Order: sequence, then structure tokens, then C-alpha cells
Amino acid sequence: MTSPDSPVVHLSNARLDRGGRTILRDIDLSVPRGSITAVLGPSGSGKSTLLAALTGELPLAAGTVEVFGKPVPRGTRHLLEMRKGIGVLLQGNGLLTDLSVGENVALPLRTHTKLPAVLVERIVNFKLNAVGLLAAADAYPRELSGGMARRVALARALALDPPLMIYDEPLTGLDPIASGVIMSLIQRLNDTLGLTSVIVTHHVHETLPIADQAVVIANGGIVFSGTPAELEATTDPLVLQFLRGQPDGPIAFDATPRTEAA
Ligand SMILES: Nc1ncnc2c1ncn2[C@@H]1O[C@H](COP(=O)(O)OP(=O)(O)OP(=O)(O)O)[C@@H](O)[C@H]1O
Ligand SMILES: [Mg+2]
Repeated sequence: MTSPDSPVVHLSNARLDRGGRTILRDIDLSVPRGSITAVLGPSGSGKSTLLAALTGELPLAAGTVEVFGKPVPRGTRHLLEMRKGIGVLLQGNGLLTDLSVGENVALPLRTHTKLPAVLVERIVNFKLNAVGLLAAADAYPRELSGGMARRVALARALALDPPLMIYDEPLTGLDPIASGVIMSLIQRLNDTLGLTSVIVTHHVHETLPIADQAVVIANGGIVFSGTPAELEATTDPLVLQFLRGQPDGPIAFDATPRTEAA
């Protein structure tokens, strides 16, 4: 891959358009290797759109995006190759309901590798153990709590040992205890497996304690970039409005509907 001190993700002067509209502009972001970056912002500010640029799902309208030291490719074959290095945990978990927990975690290994069944089983058990769910290997998604299902999805995202993990709203629908479990798991996995993580969320207070850097997006761009401590000390009215969850203030209310399915 690249030299150890080059950033794992680097966006420079990036502009992201959707449905003919500019969602984000002038985006400069560097995600250092081994770090956890929190991308915060109100609903509709463009957090998921930013992630779509990292996975190559949404090509930039302007500027550059590099992942693992190389420009995110546009051709399908190269894109698929790059994506094997990115573990993505989506909001909806995306577990297949007619497959057991173990089979769900095995799916990326069966799809993308030619590993023999015994090895697949060993890797699946290792990943399930990492999220504390080895005992649930034979259960079906409908038998799991929301927190457990999220952990299975996490194990599946880790199946191919991706060096970069991307989490889109990992806490949605979870109670405070399950949220705490997921957050400490994300941190522990990042440290023990030597990963780099980008967490997109509006759960500021749960996420800042495990983040090395924080970025706030609002009004079409980055309005804050710094350490969690710097964010907590901010006096910027726009950032404060978001942190305090106030409806009135400099953040424009997102009132434009999507023009096509997400
Ligand atoms: N496929 C799409 N086509 C057109 N517009 C889109 C599409 N996806 C998102 N948008 C628009 O882009 C803007 C940002 O959406 P995005 O989903 O990135 O926000 P978000 O910060 O992830 O919000 P949330 O916190 O609710 O998940 C919104 O105004 C949305 O309507
Ligand atoms: Mg989103």
C-alpha cells in the first residue's frame, strides 16, 4: 500500500453534487492511518453523501479524493478491488434474514475469496468472537436484538480484514447501553486490528470520546475541523447550534426533498 504516514483518506477541494444540486463544496479532509474520525452534522447535511465519495459510489463533481494513497477509481473493476479494502457498516445493517448469523458473516468471504470451507468457518468464528457473538452463530437475524444485529453486521463488515472501516450512523435505533457497547467495540477493533475508522453520525456525545479528530458539516461544507476537545470548546454559533440541537440559528433547515431514490 502506501507509506505509513500518508493519510488513508484524503479529499482536496472536493465538490459533491446530487440530483443536479451541490450538496458539499470545498471539502478538505485528511484521515490519518490508525485514527478514528467523527464526521458530524445535522440530518440532510451530506454525511452519507461524503461517504459515497469515499467508496466511489458517487464520483466527485470537482476536486480530488484519494483512498489508500490512490485516486478513487471510476472503472467498475478497479472500484470493486478498492472496495474490498473498505468495510462498510450501513444504517440498516443489511443482514439477510433467511441466512443464519454465521452464514451472513461468511457471505463476503464466499463471494470474494476461494477459501476452503474450514477456513471460512474459522474466520467467521474469529470475527463473531471479536464482536462477542460466537454463541449466536446459528441464530437467525430475527432472533437478535437491535444491538446484536448491529454487531453481526460489524462482524460481516470486518470479514475481509479491510484496513479502512466506514460507519454510517452506527447508533441509530440503539438504546444508550447498546450504543456504549457499539462505540467501545468500534474503538477496540480500531486499536487491536490496526484499522482506520470514519464514523458518520449525529450522535455527538457518544462519538467524541472515541474520536481522534472531529469534522462538522453543515450548510454545504465543513464548518469545523479539529480535536474533540477543540470542538467542545467552540464558541462558533453555527457549531454550537448543532451541538446543542437548537432548531433556530445559522444552520439552514434541510427542506429540499430527494429527487430520486437514495
Ligand atoms: N440519491 C440522491 N439524489 C438526490 N439528492 C440526494 C440523494 N441522496 C441524498 N440527496 C440529498 O442530499 C442531501 C444530503 O443527504 P445525505 O443523505 O448525504 O444527508 P445526511 O447528512 O446523511 O442525512 P441523515 O443524517 O438524515 O442521514 C439531502 O438534501 C438529500 O435530499
Ligand atoms: Mg445519512
